[in-house]
Amino acid sequence: MRFRSRHLIDLEVLGKNFKKLKTLCPNNKFIFMVKADAYGHGVIPIVRHSVTELGITEFGCASLGEALLLRDELFDLEFELYVFSDVQLDLEECAEIYLNRRIIPVISNNEDLDNILENTAFKRFPIFLKFNTGMNRLGLDMLDVDSITSKLKEKGRKSIHHLMTHFSSSSLSMKKNKKNIAQRENFSKIKEAFTSAGIEIENSSISNSGAIEQKVGLEETHVRPGLILYGPSSLLPQYSYLGHWTGEIISRLETYIIRFFNVKKGQPIGYGATPCPDDGVVAIIALGYGDGFSTRYIGARLKHKGKIGVVAGRVNMDMAQIFFKKGEVPDLEVGELFTVWDNDLEGFQKFSIETKTIPYEVFIHLTNRVPKIYC
Ligand SMILES: Cc1ncc(COP(=O)(O)O)c(C=O)c1O
Repeated sequence: MRFRSRHLIDLEVLGKNFKKLKTLCPNNKFIFMVKADAYGHGVIPIVRHSVTELGITEFGCASLGEALLLRDELFDLEFELYVFSDVQLDLEECAEIYLNRRIIPVISNNEDLDNILENTAFKRFPIFLKFNTGMNRLGLDMLDVDSITSKLKEKGRKSIHHLMTHFSSSSLSMKKNKKNIAQRENFSKIKEAFTSAGIEIENSSISNSGAIEQKVGLEETHVRPGLILYGPSSLLPQYSYLGHWTGEIISRLETYIIRFFNVKKGQPIGYGATPCPDDGVVAIIALGYGDGFSTRYIGARLKHKGKIGVVAGRVNMDMAQIFFKKGEVPDLEVGELFTVWDNDLEGFQKFSIETKTIPYEVFIHLTNRVPKIYC
């Protein structure tokens, strides 16, 4: 465990982001996606705060294990919990968990739908259906709408509690990209087919961050934001002009300078004896790939006291080198704080572009060795 390097998570900023989200889509309800440990921010404090302070009541996980953890740890709170992908309804014991712990599986295939409909214990359980409208990952087949309608009717079901689909390309233009246009059209057709066959659709959702940022899919009852609530935009840089998102990153990644020293151009540094690119100063920071400071971050530029340093040489398990070129060296002190990212949206987006990662991955990379501190 690290002592001084830390991931500081500001729950007040989460609240500010949620407020901004509500101004973007004032008429929608929210399913806050908190899979992968709330995108690396610690799912328990994030959900606790979201329920008690922000009034969010619906959350999306990827797996039953994630949902169970939330039910176990937050037994004192009331909220709805949905499992999106790793539902395992084929296992008998899982069906019981869903029933007894009020966790709702999002059904994406016919076998799981049959399991639910055939099991009388699920008779009053809300039905959540996810359709494949062109993403071709999980999802019920559009061509099965008629047979699904018959099955529902046969079992006395008059409605679908929540009907949804997921975009493959919402980080691109929602209004011009052909795949996005087709997926929206397909979803409309599915809705219409159910409705005209007499199956009521109580709730529906289609939009994750990229679509919400472009104000698309807001005619549905719900939106399903993940990334934007943690701060970053989900749009690719070339489409950022289409977005309306102005959130702040909810976290800062802080470490400190263990040591710094002068270097000459060509001088070998650390593992691999990487030659120094120029004369300057190397500062050693207390973060390495063991903390989730990825080897992909080599070459990334990080600002310290107004000067730009570059992640140089190899990233080690426990440390990394930041190189400051002669003439561009800040006043350094051993033990001083070094911030990798802070609440600034632009800086964070630049970091993920430069490191050829995606914002989702930058957060999720961080390991448990870096303590999460909530404020
Ligand atoms: C079905 C579904 N809806 C919504 C989201 C949220 O996506 P984003 O983080 O891009 O908002 C995800 C995330 O992967 C998802 O799988």
